[in-house]
Amino acid sequence: MSGTSGARGAGDAYFPDLGNGGYDVAHYALNLTVEPTSNHLEGVATISATATQDLSRFNLDLLGLEVYTLKVDGNDAPFTRDGSELVITPAKPLAKGKDFTVSVLYRGSPEPRSTKAIPIAVGWIAIGDGSFVLSEPDGASTWFPVNDHPIDKATYTFHLTVPSGVTAAANGDLVATTPSPDGAHTTFTYEETAPMASYLAEVAIGDYKVETSQGPNGVKIRNVFSSPLATQAEEDFRRTPEMLQLFASDFGPYPFDIYGVLVVNEHTNFELETQTMSLFDSTLIDGNVKDDFIVAHELAHQWFGDSVSLSSWKDIWLNEGFATYAEWLWTEHTDGVSVQSQAQQLHDKLPPSSDVLPGDPGVDHLFDVGAVYARPAVMLQALRMSVGDDAFFTILRTYLAKFAGKNATTDDFIGVVNEVAKRDLHGLFDAWLYAAPLPALAAS
Ligand code: TRP
Ligand code: ZN
Repeated sequence: MSGTSGARGAGDAYFPDLGNGGYDVAHYALNLTVEPTSNHLEGVATISATATQDLSRFNLDLLGLEVYTLKVDGNDAPFTRDGSELVITPAKPLAKGKDFTVSVLYRGSPEPRSTKAIPIAVGWIAIGDGSFVLSEPDGASTWFPVNDHPIDKATYTFHLTVPSGVTAAANGDLVATTPSPDGAHTTFTYEETAPMASYLAEVAIGDYKVETSQGPNGVKIRNVFSSPLATQAEEDFRRTPEMLQLFASDFGPYPFDIYGVLVVNEHTNFELETQTMSLFDSTLIDGNVKDDFIVAHELAHQWFGDSVSLSSWKDIWLNEGFATYAEWLWTEHTDGVSVQSQAQQLHDKLPPSSDVLPGDPGVDHLFDVGAVYARPAVMLQALRMSVGDDAFFTILRTYLAKFAGKNATTDDFIGVVNEVAKRDLHGLFDAWLYAAPLPALAAS
């Protein structure tokens, strides 16, 4: 058996280098020792994967940082670096179907990278006395070796070692806090046991206040607030249990066993739906629970995007359209303004025609507010008008249950629509997602 090289990308039309071919990752164990004041990271990444072809060579995505030891199944493996590609030649080819383990010892000062998708740098962000991660869509490779495409979801264990007194937080449950023998360092261990897309992996280090409580339906609530912002943030996020309740009744059970927010003391003007722990910057923290529709937006992403993940980035409306629609559900619940009137108001503001197609916006317009957030949300209301309330929410719950923990495409969603509605609604989606003219907000 000789095998061939795994592809250098996962085949995404927008990001040809993101992800890799030839294997499937099951689990990442990330052992990170971080000195927050110097932003120095020592990492041991242990990656459990399965070969999906006879593999003579394969890539991981890793940008910057120095790799000093790399082993495949315990044997040293030669590697080269080529931009964001870490190219690995195992001592012996890996047969299709074989489980294997890659361990990468690496170090350096992680830095964010620019992305074609949004005008900010993504990845590991150092902020003086700490750091956090904001990786959508292509920033994960700035801090760990990864198959960086949402199509390859995996579970994660984080062992985060920081100077004692500093807090380290990550996705999932905190399962251990272990002081070093001399007491100078503390290791925080987190387990994310649900499959997670790599851009949703979060590690935050710094001065944080962690507040836990019991939420509805057995969901644990854990908020990680930057200490200076904690008092105000408590008020800003006060209604999270009520939101969990509303969305569980609209969408089906919350998909994970823990939820909360991470509030960082930095102005990024971006919020991100990092799994089980949505990231909020300081801009929104004002000690006023009103206008918490963005809080609802990020929570809704835990269903739409995190539990059910994209198969390719061009389907980004599957994340942002639903999260925007969820804002209206929350506002209707709190302020009594109907979803229909909110959708109509937004429809009135949309341009009569859009060069950016919601179903294929292009990498430069991946997060276009009009085309990717607003128009697909209004489309969902047109769908609801077409099929009626009961069928509409049955569609959402069926889609979420069917693809929970997995990946979906626009066609997968349309498939569920047609099945539940018992009619062919392809025309509606074609008009709203793949043609320039703005359709009327009306039943089809
Ligand atoms: N998904 C985010 C949202 O809608 C937006 C976003 C895209 C983002 N890329 C990002 C946020 C990078 C922070 C960093 O809420
Ligand atoms: Zn969003």
